Parts: sequence; C-alpha cells; structure tokens
Amino acid sequence: MGRTYIENLDKHIGKDVTIHGWVYNKRSSGKIKFILVRDGTGLLQCVMVRAVLPEEVFETFGKLTQESSLKVTGTVKEEPRAPGGFELEVKEVEIINIAQDYPITPKEHGVEFLMDRRHLWLRSTRQHAIMRVRHHIIKSIRDYFDANGFVLIDSPILTPNAVEGTTTLFETEYFDLGKAFLTQSGQLYGEAAAMAHGKIYCFGPTFRAEKSKTRRHLTEFWMVEPEVAFNDLNDNMDLAEDFLEYIVSSTLEHKAKELKTLERNTTYLEKVKKPLPRITYDEAVEILRKKGIDFEWGGDLGGTDETVISEQFDKPVMVHRYPAQVKAFYMKRDPENEKLALALDVLAPEGYGEIIGGSQREDDYDTLVERIKEHDLPMEPFDWYLDLRKYGSVPHAGFGLGIERTVSWICGLDHVRETVPFPRMIYRNTP
Ligand code: 4AD
Ligand code: MG
Repeated sequence: MGRTYIENLDKHIGKDVTIHGWVYNKRSSGKIKFILVRDGTGLLQCVMVRAVLPEEVFETFGKLTQESSLKVTGTVKEEPRAPGGFELEVKEVEIINIAQDYPITPKEHGVEFLMDRRHLWLRSTRQHAIMRVRHHIIKSIRDYFDANGFVLIDSPILTPNAVEGTTTLFETEYFDLGKAFLTQSGQLYGEAAAMAHGKIYCFGPTFRAEKSKTRRHLTEFWMVEPEVAFNDLNDNMDLAEDFLEYIVSSTLEHKAKELKTLERNTTYLEKVKKPLPRITYDEAVEILRKKGIDFEWGGDLGGTDETVISEQFDKPVMVHRYPAQVKAFYMKRDPENEKLALALDVLAPEGYGEIIGGSQREDDYDTLVERIKEHDLPMEPFDWYLDLRKYGSVPHAGFGLGIERTVSWICGLDHVRETVPFPRMIYRNTP
C-alpha cells in the first residue's frame, strides 16, 4: 500500500492507509494497546485491539520502543479526543528498526543535556513546532520580496574585509592571498547589486565571533538584507514596517497550530500592524532616564536598555538617528546634525530587543573615504565598494533582519539557541 502522511488523514476517513514513522510513545489498557506514531507531519494514535488482530501483529506492540521506526497500516477513524482528531485501527505493523535506549525520555532534561543531543531533540514536539515556524517565517520573507519586485542576490561568505567592525571577525587562511573572513553581513555586496537591479535582497548565513554569552547572540546566524536604490531613511522605515507586518501576520495565519503547541500568547503579535512607532535615539535616551537609568548620551543601547525601551510600546518600535560614533563606517550622517547617523534599529516588544539593524548609506565618495580612514580600516579591500560612489552614485538604504531573533520573538522563547537547528555559540560547536 502507498504511503499517506498524517497531515493528510482528513482525506482518508474510513479508508485503509499506511503511515511510515516512529514510535513517539505507547501505552496499554488491558486488551487495547495504543501506539502514538509521529511521521514528521503530525502525531497519530494507533489502536491495537487483541480481539481483532492476529497474535503475531498484536505481539509487535511489546517489541516497540520509543523512537523505533515502523510502517503501520490500518483504517482511519475520526476521533476528536485523539491528537490531530483521527486515530488508526491497526491491521498490520512492519517494524523497520528497534531503537535501543533512546536518551530523551518524557521526563524533564536539562538544556545542556538536550543541546548535546540536538540531533535527536529536533524530533520532540516543541522543537518540531519551532522549526516549522522558522520555516514559515523564511517562506513569508521570500514571498514578501517576490511579491514586491525584489531580486535575490547571493553574497559571498568568504570575504576580504570587515563590515560590522573588526572585533567579531572569524578569519581563515586563504591560499596565497592571505587572510579571508567569514562574512558578518552581505550588505556591501547588496549595495552593488541594488545599483544593478534597483531592489534586491540577500539572505544567507552570517558570522560574528561574539564573545557575548547572552540569550540573543549566536556566532553563526541567518540574516535577510534588503537594499533599495534611491531609498532614504524614511523609505527604509516604511519598508521595515510593511515587511514586519507581513511576516508576522502570515505566520499567525499559517502557523497557529504550532504557536499553540508553544503556548504562545499572540496578543502582542496581533498588534504588529502599520504604522509602527518611530522614535529618535534622543527620545529613547529620555525614556531610559525617566525610568531611572543613568544613560549617557552617545553610547550604544545595551540589551537591558533595549528591553526597557521596547517595554514602553505594545508594538515593535523603530529607533532612528543614533550617534554616529557607535555605528558602522558606511552609514550616512544626518545632514541636520553631523553627530548622528541615519541609522535604524527595530526593537521587538515583550523585551525581545533589536531584531533589525539598518541605515541609509553614505553615497559620497570623499566622505566615505574619510569614514574608512576614521574607522582604521584598510582602504584597498574597499576599492570596489568605493567605485559604487564614483559611477552613478545614488542615495540608498537597507537593513538586516536576524532570523533567529525574529523566530525567538514570534515563538516567545527565552533563548535564540532553540531557533536554529544546530546552534553555534561561544561554548558550543557540536553536534
Ligand atoms: O545590526 P546588524 O549588525 O546590522 C548589519 O549587519 C547590517 N549590515 C545590516 C544591513 O543594514 N544590511 O545586524 C542585523 C541583525 C540584528 O538586528 C540582529 O537581529 C541580527 O542581525 N544579529 C544577530 N543575531 C544573532 N546573533 C548575533 N550575534 C547577531 N548579530 C546581529
Ligand atoms: Mg545592530
């Protein structure tokens, strides 16, 4: 018999199907045995009744252990009390592999124990739900850009220069050419591509040798970065809010079941609608001072500062015009105040903090040369980047959205480590 997936059982009520999967759990009540089978698309309660089953089929129940793989054939019945709303009246069981002493049992385990077994932990209901939400967030990002005329341009991962400061670079030997660095952001290449296509995005893994051991930092994370020719800071904010509204509402609509599994209270997520509040860095500093935080103007907002600011709003808040001294070399200065960069950070509510960082870019050749010098960066690797300011330079802007922080926020998790299949952090690079 062909293979049916649990998520499609509604089309097979009353019919016989074969499910290929794994034993999630089993229990027995006298002459009836229950195997909870998962197949990647859902959970299905399979019922074995002694009176109607040949002895050898009924006996397989005793051999099955947690995570053993099997093919199970039977008749689909509606059963509102069972997970998923269906159950299977078992007729045949074919054992594929008996799992021995599966280490993750239904009892509570510590996070480190589970992280060491991440390759197995991914099978559990909660991790399964998180990965499905992640999948959908990424799909909705691609859908959004497709629907709005953006072209996907892949940026390189091995690069000759820093983008986001020199303190978080992973470096490697690169044949006779000296050192290469794992990219911190595809932005600079995105800018080149925006001059070719108008509206582009790059989407790839990015790397930061972050020494910080926080709930928001990974050393390898995924970032999606749109870049638009002729956009200024305001256009950039318009794009960011439209984009966020789309991905949040699409995820609420299509991943309601998973968010329920995660017990996510979606009240705040439902409020992610345009317009989002926009405040300047100066206003953010005012908020901090009113809350009794002794914040000195000119510094970057730290994790706790971001939490305090975002708690004042029930929607993501866009903070713009940061002191240039704490921001990257490529950001354009505010023509009205040279001390400020035309930067934008979006802070997620409920204390999640920065999920987007972006800016309008410096588009003047001489000014950019000065900035590269001020930041003590070598000029030569930026020759090509400076060319973009020599040949038809235009105002342009873009931003980067961190996938893991976004998944963490939408799923309501306390740490980014569960948002990526195999997290890389300062103290972890296995499995
Ligand atoms: O603010 P960042 O550093 O901005 C850039 O890299 C720009 N070049 C993007 C651009 O304008 N095209 O990083 C952007 C986002 C952050 O807001 C955060 O969501 C995420 O990337 N991010 C991290 N996520 C997990 N772990 C880390 N160590 C992260 N660093 C940044
Ligand atoms: Mg940032």
